[in-house]
Amino acid sequence: MAAQGLVVASLLIFCLAGSCYGKVQFSSLKRTLDVTASPKQGQVLEAGVDKIAVTWALNKTLPSGTDSAYKTIKLKLCYAPISQKDRAWRKTEDDLSRDKTCQHDIVAKPYDASNHTVQRFEWPIERDVPKATYFVRAYAFDFNNEEVAYGQTTDTKKSSNLFDINSISGRHMSLDICSICFSAFSVVALFVFFYIEKQKTKASSSK
Ligand SMILES: *[C@@H]1O[C@H](CO)[C@@H](O)[C@H](O)[C@H]1NC(C)=O
Ligand SMILES: *[C@@H]1O[C@H](CO)[C@@H](O)[C@H](O)[C@H]1NC(C)=O
Repeated sequence: MAAQGLVVASLLIFCLAGSCYGKVQFSSLKRTLDVTASPKQGQVLEAGVDKIAVTWALNKTLPSGTDSAYKTIKLKLCYAPISQKDRAWRKTEDDLSRDKTCQHDIVAKPYDASNHTVQRFEWPIERDVPKATYFVRAYAFDFNNEEVAYGQTTDTKKSSNLFDINSISGRHMSLDICSICFSAFSVVALFVFFYIEKQKTKASSSK
């Protein structure tokens, strides 16, 4: 009885904390959008250098009007399962407010609901995107700003059509060069120091 009370109380607190609000489950969304991204399966792109071209459109097998409630499209870069393994901070949750699969926003665009129009956006990969394996997902939001549908470049198991982003940006490169210089310098300095010490001991012993 006490345990039940505790459960009810904690559920109540949970709800008050706002997690009962606007809760959209990923599994409740229909996959209606066809999404493509320019990288080929297994391609490696450079953050801060390369671009990704993304297209999205209502699947042609669906009657136009299926998308009449779509107001905005948000494109996101999402971690493939291989880059989520042992990383709780990238975990997939069915509750979209807690899902951490798609942490990088590509763009938000008003949805064009006219007759299966293919829309396109080119994204220069931002420098701060971590090195990982990714796919692209599009969420359709309705007029209440809630997710109502989606589409993605990979299959439902998230196993096909994945690409890699490498994040050795110019900044990191110069940092690397810097640290190499410093370690080379310290090795040289150490030798010079020993040489001088040796000369000193030699000089004092020959006196
Ligand atoms: C469009 O939807 C059909 C039926 O759900 C599906 O078989 C097909 O693969 C989809 N097209 C694309 C390009 O995803
Ligand atoms: C929609 O597009 C298809 C092919 O692009 C065309 O055959 C059809 O007439 C168009 N329908 C409308 C209502 O514009």
